[in-house]
Amino acid sequence: MLKLKRVELLFPSPLLHFAVPDCEPLNEDLLRLGHRLREHSPGIRRSNRQGWHSGGNLFREASSAVSVLESWIHIALSAAMDKLSARGDGPDPRFHIDGWMNINPLGGFNAPHTHPDCHWSGVYYVRQPRPRSRNAGMIEFIDPRRELNEYKGLRIKVYKGRRALLGQPGELYLFPSYLLHMVYPNDSEEERVSIAFNATLKGTEEDVEIP
Ligand SMILES: [Fe+2]
Repeated sequence: MLKLKRVELLFPSPLLHFAVPDCEPLNEDLLRLGHRLREHSPGIRRSNRQGWHSGGNLFREASSAVSVLESWIHIALSAAMDKLSARGDGPDPRFHIDGWMNINPLGGFNAPHTHPDCHWSGVYYVRQPRPRSRNAGMIEFIDPRRELNEYKGLRIKVYKGRRALLGQPGELYLFPSYLLHMVYPNDSEEERVSIAFNATLKGTEEDVEIP
């Protein structure tokens, strides 16, 4: 009789969930900042559809709230590198963080996309309206193997992986930048507000193993 000895999952994609403590005052400050920035800028178009996407690097704004959030992101990155044993024996790797704010009104969503040319990406939730319908306002991660040319046309279950999550205020997700994702339309009159970011290792890219 053939014996199955074990199943080994090769090259899984990590998704790390963090919770920022005592996030309410931070989120109120970030909401105020977002409203102020939106008053002075029409925003830019990336994956956002019917939503406002801030221009430039949000973390260069003179705001204590974004400084606090950036500190939490650095802590999360360090924890991720530790958890995945990706740090090696060297010093704590330094990251450059580039971020932006997304404000999705009723009907606003983000088309499927990846974040090329960076190592980690993530999102922090400032405000998440209560959804009225299934999947509304959820972020969905899609198995990147679906996009490999060799497998694009195959409709077999193992390559159809999707994971949808309704991030709550104060939650921070971290994932490899290659991981395809999208955001379903907001179906609430209340705006959905999140801050997305990219993290790029400084200087030692060739020496640091990342997931
Ligand atoms: Fe994204």
